[in-house]
Amino acid sequence: MAYRIVVLPGDGIGHEIVPQALRVLERMARRHDVGVTLEHALVGGSAYDATGSPLPAATLAACKAADAVLLGAVGGPKWEGLDYSLRPERGLLGIRKELGLFANLRPAKIFPQLVGASSLKPEAVEGIDIMVVRELTGDIYFGEPRGVTGAGAGRVGVNTMVYTAPEIERIARKAFEVARTRGKKLCSVDKANVLECTELWRNVVNEVARDYPDVQLSHMYVDNAAMQLVRWPRQFDVMVTGNIFGDILSDEASMLTGSIGMLPSASLGEGHAMYEPIHGSAPDIAGKDLANPIATVMSVGMMFKYTFGRPEAEAEIEAAVSKVLDSGARTADIAAKGAPSIGCAEMGDRILAALG
Ligand code: IPM
Ligand code: MG
Repeated sequence: MAYRIVVLPGDGIGHEIVPQALRVLERMARRHDVGVTLEHALVGGSAYDATGSPLPAATLAACKAADAVLLGAVGGPKWEGLDYSLRPERGLLGIRKELGLFANLRPAKIFPQLVGASSLKPEAVEGIDIMVVRELTGDIYFGEPRGVTGAGAGRVGVNTMVYTAPEIERIARKAFEVARTRGKKLCSVDKANVLECTELWRNVVNEVARDYPDVQLSHMYVDNAAMQLVRWPRQFDVMVTGNIFGDILSDEASMLTGSIGMLPSASLGEGHAMYEPIHGSAPDIAGKDLANPIATVMSVGMMFKYTFGRPEAEAEIEAAVSKVLDSGARTADIAAKGAPSIGCAEMGDRILAALG
């Protein structure tokens, strides 16, 4: 019995970070006796160039048949002029939707070695360990109606924020379950003072909370949450929020840890999973061996935990990354100003060496 993994490097630095993560995947799979078969496929701009679609039918079919997907990143200036339906991002959003990956777990944990790399003061970020649980298949990302109509000064742009009660309930349950395995504190983020859709969100979260009396629930408006994240991030354990707020807050949370290049993610549904770094394709540094592979390497760690049920392998991967950071090795994004840095492939070499 082997797990079927579909590998989607995507665009830009995806082609540099994914190979490094695959080295870690193969090493750890052997060590922990986890059978894996890898299948490579196209997604995003590179898929559009090759097939005319950012999500070719063959890629989607492979993802549906797989136990897990490992994705690099999608997008780039080359494809920005395309119609929305053909943009690289549609490939990623299409996989999330078609596979029903409604729960996106984005841990923002700081390595003590990188406390100085954060743009916030060390005393503000020391010890932060936050899990952002982002709903991933609903909200304004997918709501109808959408689009731009009319012409000239009469043009109107519309997107629709929409959540059904069952959609809110399932992500809330997931977040409470996650909170139970951690510090048992859950903060639900909404904009219930203005948006009815998120008032429903708050009400449903409160209903679900009755089943989790052991978890301490709080609610916060999204503007305040954005402020609190930089003011006093240690107050947070698990945060749960909708798709658009989660997109924004998880980028913000990542900077607390020093670099967006450090943060992995797991997108989970019923029977499907995708693992990807939370950062984008970084066209400005693509092809230069400058990217930080750690977020993708740690996404493989999350695959061991959530798809293979081997949390000890995830812990080993994190320990190896920590050891490399202890040695002083840094990619450019996490290096101190003026300090030397190493490239993506060398960071991969160092992590492999630290895994032993
Ligand atoms: C993310 C990204 C995506 C999103 C883009 C690339 C569509 O920003 O995974 O956070 O908005 O969800
Ligand atoms: Mg984002």
